[in-house]
Amino acid sequence: MKEASCLARPFEIPAHRSCTEPLCRLTVTIHQFAESLGRTIDLKDRYTRNHSEDVAVFASLMGRALSLDSNMCDMVHIAGHLHDIGKIGISDQVLKNEGRLSDDQWLEMRQHPMLGYEILKDIDGLGQDGGIADMVLSHHERYDGSGYPQGLKGDAIPLGARVLAVADSFSAMIDHRRYRQGRPPEEAIAEIVRCSGTLYDPQVVTAFLDMETKAMG
Ligand SMILES: [Fe+2]
Ligand SMILES: [Fe+2]
Repeated sequence: MKEASCLARPFEIPAHRSCTEPLCRLTVTIHQFAESLGRTIDLKDRYTRNHSEDVAVFASLMGRALSLDSNMCDMVHIAGHLHDIGKIGISDQVLKNEGRLSDDQWLEMRQHPMLGYEILKDIDGLGQDGGIADMVLSHHERYDGSGYPQGLKGDAIPLGARVLAVADSFSAMIDHRRYRQGRPPEEAIAEIVRCSGTLYDPQVVTAFLDMETKAMG
């Protein structure tokens, strides 16, 4: 078992990371396969290298802070690795576009949660209601209904997807891109808090703020 370095300091991203999450009910092989697929998509989207792993780690830390059972924590973690897998079906022209997306390009980009769902939904253990495929489908839904693809609102969004939304947004904000520096973690945290109750589920934001404490416990 690898040491839990990235759990101890979740807001500091080490230069070289390997996943350290202990898993209970899902097998290590399934987890490693999900990690591998997450790395694959991160390689395709060259500005988000390690993004999927960060989302997985943040998501299970938040799951613990929410006192979710270990199986659910494992599920949100795996969903974190897989959340953007549908980007495999998005053209490089759109995925690697550094400028403003046209309406058509934005429509294409918004297909990736549904494409990810289609890839995962028929796998035993991933396709159940509120399960990993549903989390992937709904990771861009927003608490106030302003997200996509279905415009789900509040508790209609699977809890795991509400967790992924915060983990994904936080990771994206602190990530360095070629065309811009990542925002400092304190600034990203403040932005997540500012959008609590609008973009993000307030109880998930509370868990996000609490996750460092729980990780140390
Ligand atoms: Fe992992
Ligand atoms: Fe996404």
